[in-house]
Amino acid sequence: MSTSEEVLAASVLDPAETERLANESVVDTSVFGEDVVARARAIIARYPQPRSSLLPMLHLVQSVQGHVSQAGIAFCAAQLDLTAAEVSAVATFYTMYKRRPCGEHLVSICTNTLCAALGGDEIYRTVREHLGSDGKPLGHEETSGEPGAPGSITLEHAECLAACDLGPVLQVNYEFYDNQTPEKALELVKALQAGERPAPTRGAPLTDFRQAELQLAGFFEGREADLDGPSAAPETLRGASIAADRGWTAPSMPDEAEFPPVPEKK
Ligand code: FES
Repeated sequence: MSTSEEVLAASVLDPAETERLANESVVDTSVFGEDVVARARAIIARYPQPRSSLLPMLHLVQSVQGHVSQAGIAFCAAQLDLTAAEVSAVATFYTMYKRRPCGEHLVSICTNTLCAALGGDEIYRTVREHLGSDGKPLGHEETSGEPGAPGSITLEHAECLAACDLGPVLQVNYEFYDNQTPEKALELVKALQAGERPAPTRGAPLTDFRQAELQLAGFFEGREADLDGPSAAPETLRGASIAADRGWTAPSMPDEAEFPPVPEKK
């Protein structure tokens, strides 16, 4: 995955967008109170360079507003001595940063190749039809209910969630629900709408989107034990356990390995 620095360096914004961001009037960032500023400073202190902390900083602003707003962009820019255009370039690059307010829960359904072949497309269709209204299915990154209100759900179709061995899978606030069917997914979504928090198949107990964003920023608020939740399933470890049973190991790397020359940068 690219680092925020690489994205900053590689980002090329449309000139009109750059000018708009440069000329926009000062944005009110008062929604980010002293507690958020204190957390921002704690994040910055983790890194040698303040700008390196942009990714967790964007998760922090999402934990407050449920998305990265213009105020969130201005807040990050001010804290990190970056321009709004630089922050915006990073925030719009990664799909985990949302441009519109999310629901209490974010439901991400994998519709990439393997999950799709195993029924992911049908799961997505079933859930979006259930969450839609007036006969219109809910669209990608749209929200059922008032964003942030209890029972509100933002739906997205996701690319491979790195759990193909357990597909079809979906995530709620990035926690896994493995081996799904349309019926199981529908039951789960209905439970979320009713205020329940069914246990994920593995990983941490379910929380809401904003709390998950706070954890992604590195703050656990008494939920540090969540880090110990099981993340690997037996299916995932099957190759490693077969190798261990049979005494297979990978050849070790020689101490004096020769590396190819690094091409000169131009
Ligand atoms: S294709 Fe769905 S987890 Fe990989």
